[in-house]
Amino acid sequence: MTHGHHHGQHGHGHQHGHGHQHGHEHNEGLAELLELDAEVLHDYHAGIVAWVRGQGPAARIADLGAGTGAGTLELLAQFDGATVTAVDSDDAMLHRLTANAAARGFAGRVRTLRADLDTGWPADLTGLELIWAANSMHHMADPPRVLRDIRAALAPGGRLAMSELDSFPRFLPPGDGLEERTHRAMSRRREQDMPHMGADWDVLLAEAGLKIRAERRFEVTLTPPFPPAALRYAQSSLRRTRDALADDLDPADVEALTALVADDGPESLHHRGDLTVRAARTVWLAEPA
Ligand SMILES: C[S@@+](CC[C@H](N)C(=O)[O-])C[C@H]1O[C@@H](n2cnc3c(N)ncnc32)[C@H](O)[C@@H]1O
Repeated sequence: MTHGHHHGQHGHGHQHGHGHQHGHEHNEGLAELLELDAEVLHDYHAGIVAWVRGQGPAARIADLGAGTGAGTLELLAQFDGATVTAVDSDDAMLHRLTANAAARGFAGRVRTLRADLDTGWPADLTGLELIWAANSMHHMADPPRVLRDIRAALAPGGRLAMSELDSFPRFLPPGDGLEERTHRAMSRRREQDMPHMGADWDVLLAEAGLKIRAERRFEVTLTPPFPPAALRYAQSSLRRTRDALADDLDPADVEALTALVADDGPESLHHRGDLTVRAARTVWLAEPA
């Protein structure tokens, strides 16, 4: 996933009027990107859930900031018989998640809960054996408060599995000038608009009374032959990045991104033989201290 203000990417509910995407449109683009991310990086996500599953079973699970359900579905697939409460502040995300769960035959084991965690903790979200939060904690206005609430909502022996992106996915050859400039602009934007991205989570977890049991960085590089959705994933991701950074990047770079994501033309990703998909995220597994 990517983020735009990272509004460019896997984003978030905070839209501050930069770029060209607003409200509903913004979230539809995000939902589409999250679904492509889930499809293209499925094995990678499955490997992360398998690692968490390897640390012990759980029957009552919550997925915080569940989006379209990438994590929820994988948790349902790997935690036999578990029920998952998918929490998100965005109704449209939860609708898609419900449809995705039904398509996989998981309808009876998933519950959706529309809640803005910035406004407080849902009263009935307690006694959880596993809380999963993938690329959602940095969206919270006050992560230390949410982490304290997470600790209180865990059942005895329960644990938190939290993951955060190390950076947005990259698609062009290492060191590509355009991609480097784009990522630098994204970092500047994030410092302004998304101050918790890249926070010192080790410290925040400890301050919330959560002890880190394991911490692991997961990396992936996909090279051709790609799954069919990889090109659409790269296009969708770079298009969102371009829109989010339209005011920040040099106009020539905006034009180059436009040519890259176009379906036709010599610069189109369709005609480049050097596309790769590179992503990295860190996962913390923590329990009440
Ligand atoms: C980057 S997406 C990650 C989605 C999903 N976890 C995944 O890995 O594909 C972040 C999600 O967090 C949700 N979100 C952001 N702020 C939230 C809040 N305060 N309360 C609940 N959900 C929130 C957004 O609506 C979005 O669906």
